[in-house]
Amino acid sequence: MRVVLMGPPGAGKGTQAERLVEKFGMTHLSSGDIFRAEKSSGSELGEKLAEIMARGELVPDDIVVEMMAKAITAVDGGLLLDGFPRTVAQAQSLDKTLDEAGSPLDAVVMITADDEAIVERITGRRSCPSTGKIYHVKYMAPKVEGICDETGEKLVQRDDDKEEVVRERLKNYKMQTEPVVAYYRDAGKVQVIEVNGMQTPDEVAAETVAALEAQGR
Ligand code: AP5
Ligand code: MG
Repeated sequence: MRVVLMGPPGAGKGTQAERLVEKFGMTHLSSGDIFRAEKSSGSELGEKLAEIMARGELVPDDIVVEMMAKAITAVDGGLLLDGFPRTVAQAQSLDKTLDEAGSPLDAVVMITADDEAIVERITGRRSCPSTGKIYHVKYMAPKVEGICDETGEKLVQRDDDKEEVVRERLKNYKMQTEPVVAYYRDAGKVQVIEVNGMQTPDEVAAETVAALEAQGR
């Protein structure tokens, strides 16, 4: 199964990706995670990406498309894309990459969430520095405050998780990424499944799994 997971910042894409991977065993590719890994490598490109992300702006399409096409073609089997595509140009490029590989998309899952919930979720997010496991200080708290349940490492906060940056990311999402949903709906080649992200993570997961299973039949 090849699925695109869409939704505003903080809608719960990463949280749901963990659950969907567990359920369906597909490979999870998050463009944001790929860019943050490039930043951690200390490369010149990573530095450039980090500056753009810290401002809450989108990375230019040519850079995104090249990095994502490379990552996608290396995957054999099921694929779960998170945070890509984020512009219509990226969606067109993804269609081309998948058509060439003879493996078109099976579904686009769009998780919705309210703006104020998004700000609260993102400013309270913490994650494990080595595995990326996602927590929230209130909604998905670790057993010991500030410590990853699985690795025992100190949890960290992302550089772009400040309120003013979140609002900029949200603005860019509405301007540049919402048209991607319309692109998929208009093209009519793939089913767009809308999931209410304003439920508990387990409820969101159950709704998503049920919709994907129904779609696969
Ligand atoms: P990216 O890393 O993709 O960030 P994003 O889209 O802003 O989304 P987030 O990762 O912040 O949120 P999420 O939906 O994954 O939510 P999560 O599950 O963590 O991109 C970062 C940057 O990289 C971009 O701003 C851009 O600069 C660049 N970039 C990336 N891709 C690009 C592209 N294709 N083109 C151009 N630039 C690109 O959940 C958030 C919090 O809420 C967590 O604390 C979680 O515990 C909690 N939570 C989750 N679900 C629930 C729930 N149901 N109830 C309560 N709390 C919940
Ligand atoms: Mg994420």
